[in-house]
Amino acid sequence: MPVRQIVMFPADVLEKTCDEVTVFDRKLTKLLADMYDTMIENDGVGLAAPQIGISEKIAIVDIDDQNGTIELINPVIIEERGVQTGPEGCLSFPGLYGEVSRADYVKVRTFNRKGKARIIEAEGFLARAIQHEIDHLEGVLFTSKVIKYLDEEDLESTEG
Ligand code: CO
Repeated sequence: MPVRQIVMFPADVLEKTCDEVTVFDRKLTKLLADMYDTMIENDGVGLAAPQIGISEKIAIVDIDDQNGTIELINPVIIEERGVQTGPEGCLSFPGLYGEVSRADYVKVRTFNRKGKARIIEAEGFLARAIQHEIDHLEGVLFTSKVIKYLDEEDLESTEG
């Protein structure tokens, strides 16, 4: 599967609302496979379709835990609780990191690749990654939510 080129900021496709997916076909399956390969190649924990130039409500999240790869198609947050604040980055902003506050828990209504509706619940870092990707589908970038930008030394201290 081909690794696609990541769209870097600034680009119009990153800042507009994506279209809903209406057709669940082999093309969608192939796109999800390409997105997975592109995310892995770039060491990401998530990727949204506009980041490869496709303005459709499709994203994937994989934080390398027991949940595996979560596919988000036309996702909507239907419930959220709590607040978490932590470092965040984005493949469309290489080398840029900042502190962002997000809900600590989210419940999301989404569809799988076959068009079946499902509910996903997540908390902590997984919830953060899901919210970051859903924002992409609305044309919202993490930089609009950064409280404080971090340099690499700040990052090391938050990790250690
Ligand atoms: Co991003």
